[in-house]
Amino acid sequence: MITKDNLEEHIKEFGLRTSLIEAKSYFGNNKKDLIGAELGVDVGNNAESMLKHLDIKLLHLIDSYDRGHLYDPVKLPYEKCKERVDNYNVVFHIKTTKEAVNEIDDSSLDFCYVDADHSYDACLEDCVLYYPKVMSGGVICGHDYNMDSVKKAVGEFALGIEKEVNFDGMDWWIFK
Ligand SMILES: C[S@@+](CC[C@H](N)C(=O)[O-])C[C@H]1O[C@@H](n2cnc3c(N)ncnc32)[C@H](O)[C@@H]1O
Repeated sequence: MITKDNLEEHIKEFGLRTSLIEAKSYFGNNKKDLIGAELGVDVGNNAESMLKHLDIKLLHLIDSYDRGHLYDPVKLPYEKCKERVDNYNVVFHIKTTKEAVNEIDDSSLDFCYVDADHSYDACLEDCVLYYPKVMSGGVICGHDYNMDSVKKAVGEFALGIEKEVNFDGMDWWIFK
């Protein structure tokens, strides 16, 4: 069980973000071969960390990679990320989260990490679109809970599905 007193120790030990440490502890030691998704991947900091520290069979990496790189809208962050995760079983979906949603089966994910567009509308939409992709006993979670737009979107989403939002620092998570 992660408490305020041992949280730092856990993060140090696992090198993982809080929501994923909590997910790991929620899954228990017997749950292996996880299937997950990250919405918003960028150069793969979090993707690499998840792949290193969770027992992942398949990770869907969803990013439109279109943040205005002048010469090649895809190459820079995508190539960096690809190099980092090359030895793992990942599938890139170079699309918006909305476009990629039909490429993920319903109830197929143990976890979904939401970290793409942080505006209120987009964050809420990502939660609504991807929650059905998470299996019962899984976790939907994400980053930047310190942003008002994210906090509001996640709070309203949780209210709509009658679930409690857990949060710590930048991370939030909801158990399904
Ligand atoms: C904050 S970065 C992700 C960081 C990453 N999760 C990490 O922690 O290492 C946000 C990423 O989301 C992507 N993004 C923003 N809006 C998106 C959308 N609607 N669909 C897909 N990707 C999007 C951007 O291209 C950017 O790479």
